[in-house]
Amino acid sequence: PVLVVDFGAQYAQLIARRVREARVYSEIVPHSMPVAEMLAKNPAAIILSGGPSSVYEAGAPQVDAALFQSDVPVFGICYGFQAMALALGGTVSKTGLREFGGTKIEVADEAGCLLGGWSTGQDVWMSHGDSVSAAPQGFAVTASSPGAPVAAFEDLVGRRAGVQFHPEVAHTRNGQQVLERFLYEIAGIEPTWTMGNVLDDQVALIRAQVGDAQVICGLSGGVDSAVAAALVHRAVGDQLTCVFVDHGLLRAGEAEQVEQDYVAATGIKLKVVDAEERFLTALAGVTDPEQKRKIIGREFIRVFEVAAREIAASGDVRFLVQGTLYPDVVESGGGTGTANIKSHHNVGGLPDDLQFALVEPLRTLFKDEVRALGAALDLPEAMVWRHPFPGPGLAIRIIGEVTRDRLDVLRAADLIAREELTAAGLDRDVWQFPVVLLADVRSVGVQGDGRTYGHPVVLRPVSSEDAMTADWSRLPYDLLAKISTRITNEVPEVNRVVLDVTSKPPGTIEWE
Ligand code: XMP
Repeated sequence: PVLVVDFGAQYAQLIARRVREARVYSEIVPHSMPVAEMLAKNPAAIILSGGPSSVYEAGAPQVDAALFQSDVPVFGICYGFQAMALALGGTVSKTGLREFGGTKIEVADEAGCLLGGWSTGQDVWMSHGDSVSAAPQGFAVTASSPGAPVAAFEDLVGRRAGVQFHPEVAHTRNGQQVLERFLYEIAGIEPTWTMGNVLDDQVALIRAQVGDAQVICGLSGGVDSAVAAALVHRAVGDQLTCVFVDHGLLRAGEAEQVEQDYVAATGIKLKVVDAEERFLTALAGVTDPEQKRKIIGREFIRVFEVAAREIAASGDVRFLVQGTLYPDVVESGGGTGTANIKSHHNVGGLPDDLQFALVEPLRTLFKDEVRALGAALDLPEAMVWRHPFPGPGLAIRIIGEVTRDRLDVLRAADLIAREELTAAGLDRDVWQFPVVLLADVRSVGVQGDGRTYGHPVVLRPVSSEDAMTADWSRLPYDLLAKISTRITNEVPEVNRVVLDVTSKPPGTIEWE
């Protein structure tokens, strides 16, 4: 792999993704990992990421100079560039000239490998206080900016290079090419990492892990569990049984999507448990959001346990599939073997006599890669591109008590919003589009000649990269108008449609 050494920036994951977009497999490792351990992974190259510190701060992470006694190609970015310069005998100074945001670098006449062939003023994204003022011996300086006398350097013989700017962010116009020139031309790596390879590798790994045993998997209707299960099915066929707990809190058409479209596309053995009654009974009278989550989580485990016991009664079930993704692995410290229970539908908390070893075939993948893998597995497009949806479902989009009638109202309004978003061709521009029913709020309206006293719904379309932060989507007014008109015409209980224009933070994506 290419190792991306994380110096504590939010950029390490982005760098790892960009490397993979260049069809080179990458992994993130913490800067605290000893160099010997990094080298033991036999890396094709090492990329030192940006980070928040100044190299001169007490306790600032350093690059162990032992790294440069090996002949592994190294690329430094931002903080990693400075730390690398320092470790190799260059100079880093406080120029007092902070650069933050879009900046133009001046490319040298001898532009070298990373920056050659483009015009001299290159638009890049900067974020630094200190800067490299003298490159280490043997390095050619290939660019500078007002705040960074050395904005890029390279040593083609030693196969080492670095840049002060962030090539991984979209604001750096030729950023991806800079990264690719390092990978292909300086490090000499072949771009061979494709979804086809991932699929073949994972199928082989799953077969080796599972052997002849039986496997179960809980399907939530979401992308991750759908792709994980399809992959395991590709590997071990009918040794896999899936369980779909229909808690009655899904959106219109979603249960059918799992029960019909998904099964038709994959041929997976599916056990459907209709548990709507049970969940609604347990939720009766409950209005507190965390209480709702706890109840739904608890009921889910109970229902899943019964289904798992039934399946286990007729075979040697030893494995449970989980759709854990790479960001979860990185954020929880990268340990292997133990489950990262993110939310209730990643089944945790099963009793001791019903413990399974985990199969986590998506552990190395980012969300967009999971989607690409889903496409490679021929899953229905609507499933592969489905927006993220919370485990507790519509229960946390009804502000107030959850009842079947309220769920039906919300489902009708939500379906209209989704239909119109799709018709406008904007599905992939929006990260999520919650529709929220303010069930305990009433507002006065007029329809025909009569006064109405109905409920508002809130439209909450957001754009995001990872749900950690989000911005409200600037959907076209005409689209919003159409959604509003249709909802108030077609859903009699709703007489007002409002738009949520809050970013996250301070608002969360969901209202509960
Ligand atoms: P918030 O509302 O915290 O949501 O901005 C961030 C992301 O998490 C989803 N979400 C949940 N997912 N169980 C889940 O599985 C939950 O209880 C839950 N609450 C929020 C939300 O839809 C968004 O994608």
